[in-house]
Amino acid sequence: MALSFQVRNPALLSEFIPYLVATPFNLPHVNLRPFGVTPAHVIDPLRLESETFLRLLHRLDGLTFGPEGMPMPRWVFFDCSEMPGAIYGLARPASQLWPVARELFKVPDDYDGLVPVSMYVAIPMHRTGMWFGHNLSSLAPVFREHHVTDLDLTGLGSLTKGLALKCFGVKQFWGATQWMSKALHIHVKFGPLDLQTAYTPAHSERETLTYGFAVTDANLRASMGDRSVKLPRPAPDYWLDGHDVAGMIALQDRIEAGGRFVIPEAPRSTSAGGVEVPITCVG
Ligand SMILES: CC(C)(COP(=O)(O)OP(=O)(O)OC[C@H]1O[C@@H](n2cnc3c(N)ncnc32)[C@H](O)[C@@H]1OP(=O)(O)O)[C@@H](O)C(=O)NCCC(=O)NCCS
Repeated sequence: MALSFQVRNPALLSEFIPYLVATPFNLPHVNLRPFGVTPAHVIDPLRLESETFLRLLHRLDGLTFGPEGMPMPRWVFFDCSEMPGAIYGLARPASQLWPVARELFKVPDDYDGLVPVSMYVAIPMHRTGMWFGHNLSSLAPVFREHHVTDLDLTGLGSLTKGLALKCFGVKQFWGATQWMSKALHIHVKFGPLDLQTAYTPAHSERETLTYGFAVTDANLRASMGDRSVKLPRPAPDYWLDGHDVAGMIALQDRIEAGGRFVIPEAPRSTSAGGVEVPITCVG
């Protein structure tokens, strides 16, 4: 397969098969071959034949978000993901699945369809091209935990989000995550993150930040490991401790007063085992 961009871990694209969950309403508006990657298998959530795959996808959410304390109820998955939005990810035929994964997913013996190893879910907002990220799941950490080591899954989460945003045709992205989330390491690969909230009582996790960025081919390629792309990043003004609630509220106050802030680069670990996130004032 001739790719039009560099990927950090090309094996992911030869070992796995892309899939897309979209209704017939949304399907005509997406790109089934983002950056020339093999066309995605399409799963229509409105058809009975999709039942097992969608159950496995919900199981993927449970395996990844369950330990984070935020697994999605099945009806939320339908109402807020499958029906209004789209889901893109990578999968493997059940017949080629590792025994550990078969066990974790509880794959039915007679099922020989695809089993998802990653997914990215986003929901279109009112303005054309503006989407809200709803879920990013990668089995890579679960596989590492279960010592499935015969395949290097490095970069699976980043690659899935990058291809998904291209597939959905996202132009302006918004998302929400927690200050301590490892996923921040992925989100900053798309460039500096504009902060809309720094402390979010409207969310079930108050220590949530709401962030966004304009989507370009350059930042998508950077996110997937194309080293030829260099994104501009302002220097940090200060570092916010990932547990510093007073600091989050102070930053939220400054945002509500009209200040503009970005997270310019990845969080760093502290010698005391904590996490600090860089903040830059941009206006
Ligand atoms: C977050 C998640 C998607 C990451 O998947 P993944 O396949 O490991 O992702 P990638 O390999 O593309 O990137 C992970 C990045 O996080 C970094 N990372 C992971 N754990 C880390 C840790 N404990 N400390 C520091 N960095 C860490 C990795 O180093 C990597 O960054 P790098 O490429 O700059 O080295 C996966 O762990 C997951 O599904 N988690 C549960 C659900 C969740 O939290 N989703 C995100 C919601 S916003």
